[in-house]
Amino acid sequence: ERADALPYDLAGVRVVISAGGTREPLDPVRFLGNRSSGKQGFALARAAAQRGAQVTVVAGSTAEPGDPAGVEVVRIATATELADEMTKRAAEADVVIMAAAVADFRPTSVAESKIKKGAAGPAPIELATNPDILRGLVESRTEGRIPAETVIVGFAAETGDEHGGVLDHGRAKLGRKGCDLLVVNAVGEGKAFGTEDNTGWLLSSTGSETALPLGSKTLMASRILDQVRTLVPDGRR
Ligand code: CTP
Ligand code: CA
Repeated sequence: ERADALPYDLAGVRVVISAGGTREPLDPVRFLGNRSSGKQGFALARAAAQRGAQVTVVAGSTAEPGDPAGVEVVRIATATELADEMTKRAAEADVVIMAAAVADFRPTSVAESKIKKGAAGPAPIELATNPDILRGLVESRTEGRIPAETVIVGFAAETGDEHGGVLDHGRAKLGRKGCDLLVVNAVGEGKAFGTEDNTGWLLSSTGSETALPLGSKTLMASRILDQVRTLVPDGRR
């Protein structure tokens, strides 16, 4: 065995990863969206596949030039569609990773034809709250709709504010979501969105906190998978 060989430690493990941003339509040509590139989710997909996992990516809008080799890619647009796909696919997965940037809100109604400028000026856009997919997956596990040993991983992009720093917000979010691992990225000032590099922390529901030093999204993916692997039951890997 070569000392520099890639680990092949996720053989046969079924991994479902959401990636990219959702788009919430306003009319046939317009949507509310976000700047997610999908790079971190796709980096995870590539790394997991290289380690032998059977990987499905449920992807919203991304800046990825192509689909990674050896990975099933399913396309969705809205948070509602993403919720449906993830709920369905989580029942057949060993690991579920929510790396997608899910729109928190969607327009309450979608105009059937293109909204015109008119003379009266813009009408306000009324919004409804989207389902919390990650929270819903954890609830499904608690209630037995998905297997108890399914590993559930969330992401959080945080900035510090008057209520606390990036890590404080991350800890609070881990508690609220109830997932097994939360990847906390520091954002703002050119960090994270659309960039090649990421920095942050990996917080576990057991209380362990691992710093993820600045490095490529590929490196971060492999660090995340190292921890995920320890949570997958022996019979599954
Ligand atoms: N997420 C989700 N469904 C949503 C919103 C977010 O599944 N409707 C997931 C994201 O994919 C991510 C995690 O939850 O894995 C945290 O997303 P984030 O936007 O940071 O959390 P929110 O609960 O929406 O909190 P905030 O008010 O900070 O946006
Ligand atoms: Ca949010």
